[in-house]
Amino acid sequence: EEVKDERTYQRYTEIMATLPRERGFAQDLLYQHQGFWYWDRYLPGVMAVQNHFIAQPSDVLLVSTPKCGTTWLKSLISAICNRKLHPLTQSPLLTVNPHQLVPFLEADLYANNQIPDLDILPSPRLLATHMPYSSLPQSVFDSGCPVVYISRNPKDTFVSMWHFLNKISTKESIMPSTVEEAFEMFCNGASLYGPFWDHVLEYWRASIERPQYVMFLKYEEMQAEALVHVKRLAEFIRCPFSLEEEKEGVVDEIIRLCSFQNLSRLDINKTGQASFGDTHIKFNTFFRKGKVGDWSNYLTPEMIDRLDQISKQKFHGYGLTL
Ligand code: A3P
Repeated sequence: EEVKDERTYQRYTEIMATLPRERGFAQDLLYQHQGFWYWDRYLPGVMAVQNHFIAQPSDVLLVSTPKCGTTWLKSLISAICNRKLHPLTQSPLLTVNPHQLVPFLEADLYANNQIPDLDILPSPRLLATHMPYSSLPQSVFDSGCPVVYISRNPKDTFVSMWHFLNKISTKESIMPSTVEEAFEMFCNGASLYGPFWDHVLEYWRASIERPQYVMFLKYEEMQAEALVHVKRLAEFIRCPFSLEEEKEGVVDEIIRLCSFQNLSRLDINKTGQASFGDTHIKFNTFFRKGKVGDWSNYLTPEMIDRLDQISKQKFHGYGLTL
């Protein structure tokens, strides 16, 4: 099996070598596959997911582009789905990072040059990906499993991504890019899983065309009205809160448990780290400020205008504002 898997991944690496290539924010390599830009280290995993992952109707698939609130949504989905297994006061979230509770398909489960056996995971399998809608494996659509997408305004997403990539580019020989350089790349679409706007738009359209299967959330709306959105989310992933639970304040308790303030102060998230494929990431890099509007501290009026123009132009006619 192992030899077979190695050959499969070897083939993906060969295909990769034929694809368009660009330097990313952290001088890392990005490859363009089916219209989107992927990190070199996770693209073989993406191809493996496309060819080998079989979604089941009971799965819950969480999707985002990087830095839109993935960690937060992972914690919420995990807390909602597992609340009958563990009282919230003994939640696994208190000792385990959300990325370990809801693993990434391409950047974790399929990232180690092996095709994993996911049938051994308890049901419902809570899985995450950053893959664009148009590149999801067919079984996701056939299975009818719920797909939850979280989006965020491009200004905060960009600022968050720039900080994140600078923090994890640990090699001393590598100079992190300036905000200006990174900004050009982001606007031109050559950023992780970019173009950002195309990624968001695909899921937005899917959520309108297949609302029973694709839910579209906005980071800012979740911040503003957590209670409403967490209840909607629970219904969508088929773990609705009972009236009794609502009366007992279970929803508020979950919101508190998964809040930036709470998660970022836990030991595991302050000092823990994990490998995502061959990339080590300290969990504290997933928690920076957790605020809406931090872009105003980093972007010039020209940059703001440029991002707003792109959003207007790309989203115009689809009824989407971010
Ligand atoms: P900032 O860099 O703006 O602070 P992702 O999880 O997709 O990588 O996104 C990371 C962003 O979400 C970071 O944004 C991070 O601080 C914020 N974040 C992490 N945990 C959060 C939580 N529990 N609630 C709200 N925001 C959170």
